[in-house]
Amino acid sequence: MDRPTWAPEGVDMTLPSPARMYDALLGGSHNFEVDRQAAEQGKALVPDLPRLALSNRAFLRRAVRFLVDSGVRQFLDIGSGIPTAGNVHEIAQEIDPECRVLYVDIDPVAVAHARAILSDNDNATAVEADLRKPAELMERAGATGLIDLDQPVGVLLIAVLHLLADDDRPAEMVSDLRAVMPTGSFVAISHLTSATRPEDAAKLGANAANKSKVGIHFRGREAITAMFDGWELIEPGVVELPLWRPESDRDQHEAPGRSLGLAGVGRKG
Ligand SMILES: C[S@@+](CC[C@H](N)C(=O)[O-])C[C@H]1O[C@@H](n2cnc3c(N)ncnc32)[C@H](O)[C@@H]1O
Repeated sequence: MDRPTWAPEGVDMTLPSPARMYDALLGGSHNFEVDRQAAEQGKALVPDLPRLALSNRAFLRRAVRFLVDSGVRQFLDIGSGIPTAGNVHEIAQEIDPECRVLYVDIDPVAVAHARAILSDNDNATAVEADLRKPAELMERAGATGLIDLDQPVGVLLIAVLHLLADDDRPAEMVSDLRAVMPTGSFVAISHLTSATRPEDAAKLGANAANKSKVGIHFRGREAITAMFDGWELIEPGVVELPLWRPESDRDQHEAPGRSLGLAGVGRKG
């Protein structure tokens, strides 16, 4: 199996990665056979899985626009994934070209590809770091000179916290990030949930663990809401993905009551 030119040296092409599986679900081209197979296995169990990915991207777009409208001009997108249509810098810089975006991911493929497409953008770049080590992550973010901790930051944790096990203490990671963010900062979170379709959630979680060796943790409403502890929850609170401030029918990729993701935005007061 030849390594494609876009994949960094040393990448393991025999194990699926969440970043590349998600890229495959969105119809992207930065994934390997093993990722496409994993995405297909998920779709065989839950055929509307691609709608969930679209619904999540639509929430990301609305949340970023909301944050820019609220005065945020710098974004820390953690677990940013492989760049695909509608990236944070495109959404934010369309409204204000001065918006700065730092993409952070643990996956070297995601980081390499982000750096490549951002090479001519002075206001955006990508670094490799682990959300489970917030102090180290913030050190790397600081070294880029892109994020000014004297100004409000939009922290994006979109479809990443469900990749952390309970033992990784995801709510604590969010809280550690809040502690270093200036007042007026925001956090936007989307998270896979077992609240709406528990059987489908259980099937997908078990399949990912057994077949793909990827830990995906569908959580209940209470656990996801607890991730906003200490933040002021913005209306309408923690809701199904398509119900968070929908702008048009285009945002309704999943029917109400059927979304496998919950989302919300909080502000540090
Ligand atoms: C499903 S993708 C989401 C991409 C993008 N945020 C979105 O919602 O469209 C999740 C991303 O989180 C990254 N990730 C997983 N664990 C991480 C960790 N501990 N630290 C940083 N990134 C992580 C994965 O590599 C992957 O790119």
